[in-house]
Amino acid sequence: MSLSEALPMWDPDPGWLNTASYGIPPQVGWDALQRTLEEWRSGRGSWEVWEQSHDSARASYAALVGVRPEDVLSGSTVSAALALIAAAIPDGSTVLVPDIEFASNVFPWTAQAHRGVQVVTAPVDRLVERIDDTVDVVAVGLVQSATGEVSDLAALSAAARGADALLVVDATQAVGWLPVDAGLADAFVGDTYKWLMTPRGATFGYLSPRLQELVRPLQTGWSAAVDGQYYGLEARLPQDASRYDQAPTWFTHVAAAPTLDLVRRIGVDAIHEHDVALANAFRAGIGMAPGDSAIVSADIPGAEERFREAGIRASVRGGRLRVSFHVYTTQADVDLALDALDGLAPA
Ligand SMILES: Cc1ncc(COP(=O)(O)O)c(C=O)c1O
Repeated sequence: MSLSEALPMWDPDPGWLNTASYGIPPQVGWDALQRTLEEWRSGRGSWEVWEQSHDSARASYAALVGVRPEDVLSGSTVSAALALIAAAIPDGSTVLVPDIEFASNVFPWTAQAHRGVQVVTAPVDRLVERIDDTVDVVAVGLVQSATGEVSDLAALSAAARGADALLVVDATQAVGWLPVDAGLADAFVGDTYKWLMTPRGATFGYLSPRLQELVRPLQTGWSAAVDGQYYGLEARLPQDASRYDQAPTWFTHVAAAPTLDLVRRIGVDAIHEHDVALANAFRAGIGMAPGDSAIVSADIPGAEERFREAGIRASVRGGRLRVSFHVYTTQADVDLALDALDGLAPA
């Protein structure tokens, strides 16, 4: 399906430039959710059916990041999935994170300080050169949430493997618009409520075979039990990464299944081209050189107020304007934003 064929699926009010905060649902996801809410209200729904969406959404996530569904865990937040991994690394490990990194990929590591786990930092653009054999884990957001800066996954992977360190990636701001190969990392964890446009509450994470040997199923419950064995002391868990699952947030997955399938059918390459082209049209309009991201960060004094007056929804991160462009963003949205700025330029 081409991107222009898919476009009528979305209906945001003009001026939504904030997918880095949350994504807008396509009609298929919205409709599936409404049907399910009605089933819930009337008591005519079957959770067994809702549950099937979970498997379908997992399979789509796996396909989107280029790995097997059997190696993908399902949870509800990135921080909880990373906490599972952080709890598995050996006592006294050294974890390298960017010096300015989203909290969900920081706190799970610092919370292990009682076991002698030490967190060290480097600027995100110097991370690769900082990796040496004193580092046991590299934990990084592939696309920085505040600035949109895209890290070089292949270079991080090569450096981490060279130092025998685990590479743990928070892919939340990447999956859905950036073509990726999750198999380059040991963990590749992402929320779906931003660039994959689902309600909040679904997180998927690829785990490498090496990491699957280390991680224990600390948050597993009834939904992972083999053969619907819900009672008793003996936990019979699957052999694949679903043994790490949290029980699924049904309604989120009901919307996620058709939405992630739609993203697959449009194709991440086409979405990437569209998003970055619009981001670059915005950059050109404020006199910035082209970039490689769907997120633009710029220090434009007065922009926030101008946007508010014009009804444009964006964010401010670290004192800078953050605007983001996705599949449903149009040139008209970009023009609206540039008109609102009306000559204001980056400081
Ligand atoms: C890079 C990144 N990771 C994770 C999250 C959300 O984390 P969690 O799923 O723990 O709420 C966000 C939300 O803004 C984010 O930007």
